Amino acid sequence: MNTGDNRMKTAILSLALSFVFLGASSASAESEDMLQLAEEKQCLSCHARDDETPRAPGFNSIAAKYAGGEMRGYLVEVVMTGGEDHWGSATMPESGERAEVSEEEAEQLVDWILSKHQE
Ligand code: HEC
Repeated sequence: MNTGDNRMKTAILSLALSFVFLGASSASAESEDMLQLAEEKQCLSCHARDDETPRAPGFNSIAAKYAGGEMRGYLVEVVMTGGEDHWGSATMPESGERAEVSEEEAEQLVDWILSKHQE
């Protein structure tokens, strides 16, 4: 590895960081991160944030239905193991048939979804 390489890496890194900060200015940093996680875990390929899609209920409907947070544990379970029959005929597959979601990630995603109701 030569110095040119390193300089290139620094340039790429600072470019990437400036994108992170630009993103953070439009919404809270945490919510941008969560959006990215939801994208990465393919949640957004079925769920939309605001509206129902033919494939799945919208995250804000989910937030409204489970407002209060008592169902948090159940929802974390659903994010990992999937679910059906609560909304319609479509089934949410278990993690593994889609992107793997750890328990910690599932908790973060559920907190993020539930927080939408207060927005
Ligand atoms: C293949 C499509 C698909 C993907 C990918 C998907 N979901 Fe779902 N999700 C659904 C469907 C369909 C339902 C409704 C299931 C039902 O009726 O119980 C649902 C329901 C839910 C619910 C509500 C559960 C309930 O019982 O009311 C939550 C929370 C949820 N999804 C979160 C997520 C998160 C977070 C991800 C990403 C890690 C994700 N989903 C990925 C299709 C999907």
